[in-house]
Amino acid sequence: MKGIILAGGKATRLRPLTIVTSKQLLPVYDKPMIFYPLMTLLNAGIKEVLIIVAPEYAGHFLHLLGSGKQFGAKFTYEIQESPRGLADAFIVGEDFLDNSNATLILGDNIFEDNFTEAIRSFKSGGRIFAKKVPDPERLGVVQFDEQNHVLQIVEKPKKWISDYAIPGLYIFDNRVCQFAKEVKPSARGEIEITELHKRYLALGELDVRVIDGQWFDAGTFDSLLAAGKFIAGQKKG
Ligand code: G1P
Repeated sequence: MKGIILAGGKATRLRPLTIVTSKQLLPVYDKPMIFYPLMTLLNAGIKEVLIIVAPEYAGHFLHLLGSGKQFGAKFTYEIQESPRGLADAFIVGEDFLDNSNATLILGDNIFEDNFTEAIRSFKSGGRIFAKKVPDPERLGVVQFDEQNHVLQIVEKPKKWISDYAIPGLYIFDNRVCQFAKEVKPSARGEIEITELHKRYLALGELDVRVIDGQWFDAGTFDSLLAAGKFIAGQKKG
């Protein structure tokens, strides 16, 4: 299993904070944001991590994280020229992955849960997560039936279907690199990660696990603040 952190994008929603640096380098209480998803991967025992960054601030990431040696890991960097969508991580990351399975985490996603068991026990197919949220319309959403089988997966549903959002941590087998290349851009011009979920769902190989811990997608002013407060609260016990 290898890890990928997607930390590209322009983060226009966070301007002016992101004019001189990348969103994933902004502080979340006492650490740069990317430390949290990085720790989620390292804590789960992943030793090889690809960090995908935008060209503007690639040097900042290298300066901050280096080779990975001080973290007991090996870091590789790739540039994503433009934010083409989350599924692009598996196209940019294909050479890095070689034939390995992949855990992708978004560079602005902060999780309380520990994913060690979910990652270590993974064999093949796709494994994603679901978290009950108050604002599913701004996320990828999964709808379950009464037996907890997945009925459908929709990216930012206009009409309510479920309160279960799909957070930004995804585990896929190596077929995902090929599947990613087959995804057609959506109306917003991105190759959507939800298309990959649907692909594995159609194959009958998608495992969806509900998580209960706190989860933040720290890409807006309010969620950035909420994430910082949560971390501060944890530190102070
Ligand atoms: C993306 C994904 C969405 C997922 C979310 C998690 O949304 O498209 O499925 O639920 O990340 O943070 P975006 O941040 O691109 O709007």
